[in-house]
Amino acid sequence: MALKIALLPGDGIGPEVLAQTVKCLEAVEERFNQHFLFKEAPVGAIAIDKKGVPLPNNTLKLCKEADAVLFGAIGDPKYDNDPEAKVRPEQGLLQLRKELELFANIRPVKAYPTLLDRSPLKKEVIQGTDFVIYRELTGGIYFGEKKLNEEGTKASDLCEYTEEEISRIAHLAFKAAKGRNKKLTLVDKANVLESSRLWRKVVTKIGESYPEVTLDYLFVDNAAMQIILNPKQFDVILTENMFGDIISDEGSVIGGSIGLLASASIGEENALFEPIHGSYPQAKGKDIANPIASILSAAMLLEHFGLNEEALAVKKAVDKSLKKGIVTPDLKKDSPYGTNHVGDFIAHSIVDFEDDTLMNDENIDLGKSTII
Ligand code: IPM
Ligand code: MN
Repeated sequence: MALKIALLPGDGIGPEVLAQTVKCLEAVEERFNQHFLFKEAPVGAIAIDKKGVPLPNNTLKLCKEADAVLFGAIGDPKYDNDPEAKVRPEQGLLQLRKELELFANIRPVKAYPTLLDRSPLKKEVIQGTDFVIYRELTGGIYFGEKKLNEEGTKASDLCEYTEEEISRIAHLAFKAAKGRNKKLTLVDKANVLESSRLWRKVVTKIGESYPEVTLDYLFVDNAAMQIILNPKQFDVILTENMFGDIISDEGSVIGGSIGLLASASIGEENALFEPIHGSYPQAKGKDIANPIASILSAAMLLEHFGLNEEALAVKKAVDKSLKKGIVTPDLKKDSPYGTNHVGDFIAHSIVDFEDDTLMNDENIDLGKSTII
């Protein structure tokens, strides 16, 4: 299969983690005889510096023409502390989501057996956690009308949803639940918000056509608590844009590092894959950023195109790096391995997969490998 992939490295650690992902996809090309055509374009703060806008026309055009987009990260501190800034890097990503109609953001959350000790949560609480968040991505408060009065003393952001916007992602979430543990939890704030009451109504109705899936409901404040109190209860979580943004960062604590969480943003025509972590400017250029979330996003890309064997090879190579402790310092304090080394190791493991048989899993715990 020949796939056109637009590379949007963006800001901060984006370029360095994306470079590792490209290595891994090149390894997939080599092992599985696939072909990927990469083309790169600027987005975010770097695009503002170069072209004056966070999403230049040529970048958008490249993304529309590509089969998929691989996104690095976006954001720069010089904009975060300037409420007066007229253009912001984040607008580039939001505009891209809207233009490509990427309405469903899929964020898997998993507790890796070798990393249970990395989470501040108790091992027995997180062990076995495996759920996926379906976050609506092109509606709600992110995209509703924004107002600021002339004196700059009053502001508002409108949260709007249509039945159609809710139902298209709800169907995807129900289908996902059907193929998993058959449970769907709608997270909303229906005790207060009209838009949430519409979500309940629409999702409940759609649920009737998925009788094998158990549907339950949680208010977002309670969901925020349940995710750390008893994360194993979840299978598929369906929620609107901003609640999904917040609870997915919260969910990343379960995996032990936000540097592990991948995501896919899907529309009818387009698909974009990105780590959920931000641009982490403090780590930029230091060779310490964890490339795994970005690499796992590429695995989601492969799955999206039905390249399941290839995706599995990438995930297995990531597992191997975790098992052998070839990880960045966020996962193992004092780890001597940097972004590049971890990327090389994972890419190498994709090609050189026979190595697997040399590993004695019983003796391999994080950093206690018998071979390395
Ligand atoms: C995310 C990010 C974005 C969001 C920002 C960068 C606009 O936090 O993808 O979760 O809020 O959606
Ligand atoms: Mn976020």
